[in-house]
Amino acid sequence: MARIVDVVGRQVWDSRGNPTVEAEVILKTSRGRAIAPAGASTGAGEAKAIDVRQAVLNVNTKIKNSLKGKTLEQASVDETLIELDGTPDKSKLGANAIVAVSLACAHAAAAAARKPLWRFLGGSRKLALPVPQIQIFGGGAHAKGRVDIQDYMVICVGAGSFAESLEWTAKIYKAAGARLAKRGLLQGVADEGGYWPAFKSNEEALEELTGAISDAGFEPGVDVGIALDVAATQLWRGGRYHLALENRSLTADQMHAMLLRWIERYPIVSIEDPFGEHDAAAMAAFTRTAGGKIQVVGDDFFVTRKEKLLEGKEKGCCNCVLLKPNQVGTVTETLRCWEAARQAGYGAIVSARSGETEDVSIVHLAVGWGVPQLKVGSFSRSERMAKWNEALRIEEALGGGKLPFPARKLFKR
Ligand code: PGA
Ligand code: ZN
Repeated sequence: MARIVDVVGRQVWDSRGNPTVEAEVILKTSRGRAIAPAGASTGAGEAKAIDVRQAVLNVNTKIKNSLKGKTLEQASVDETLIELDGTPDKSKLGANAIVAVSLACAHAAAAAARKPLWRFLGGSRKLALPVPQIQIFGGGAHAKGRVDIQDYMVICVGAGSFAESLEWTAKIYKAAGARLAKRGLLQGVADEGGYWPAFKSNEEALEELTGAISDAGFEPGVDVGIALDVAATQLWRGGRYHLALENRSLTADQMHAMLLRWIERYPIVSIEDPFGEHDAAAMAAFTRTAGGKIQVVGDDFFVTRKEKLLEGKEKGCCNCVLLKPNQVGTVTETLRCWEAARQAGYGAIVSARSGETEDVSIVHLAVGWGVPQLKVGSFSRSERMAKWNEALRIEEALGGGKLPFPARKLFKR
């Protein structure tokens, strides 16, 4: 196994124009590079990013010193990083420093084995592309609260391949833009590339999205389903969920009732963080009523932590987990959470953050680990398209979409 010759950290810039950490891990005959992403609607239980200059310094001093000469084995490198940091939230070295180094190690190891990362991680297992969740309207913390719900996404449940999902999404994205333009509501895009949501209510966005699916020539609910990320932790204040756009606030029961009504009226197949990160009782109640019909996803609710997932399962919360490497801090901990989810019978979605770059590592993790779904934002802005396009290259390498694509199986309604 190769030894780490050097580790280099540097400051680069993300899709919001914010500084972030890039790390390079250098072996004798290969190297790997990765960039830390950044969230805007972060969960309280997330690993903490620190000041970027300090994080870069930590890579170039403490992390370099402890990894130099060490054998590159992902789990033991990640264990070293966790011990060196020594805090429960990785705030000493910085989650941004740690995740960049951890991912760079994965790339370096794959390069040393002369394999693409997805193949290196997948070994001899039969691999398939994940089903994409693609944003059409972006709201919440990604659009200055212009609408309250954060993501209005599509899942092309009837598509036969990843490539076909993107073909369909392109049509829906354009149709949604045309509808907005016709009404004089086209005002650019939000942080993840979805259209700026110039709507009068949260429900209007659902109506427009359903309309755009039809306009594009697809049957809502049959060909294409809707996925929402409520990101409800962001809405929680003083014991209620605030819908600022509609000038009203809801109890957990009222939120529950509203979401059930939406599920009845619109072709919704998945809802992420329908309740706040603290609200296990409401999450469990919602999973009981809606979980048989739709996917209930925990993002801020689980923060990619295996312990939280297992605790949530005990309480009957959610049936799917979002996996974000920077939320927990290392590649190995992300993998542990996915393994726990699989064992618990939960679904899983590898996800990007709202602050992203050209880094496409997460696509490789999703394919290599066999995670069934992928969420990287909308269908514009190159930090998003870089990831969709990387998935297309992998699909081609796997035989051009001839393999079974699990969309229909995952989202029977
Ligand atoms: P974030 O949003 O990266 O701002 O946390 C993504 C999400 O909530 O899924
Ligand atoms: Zn989320």
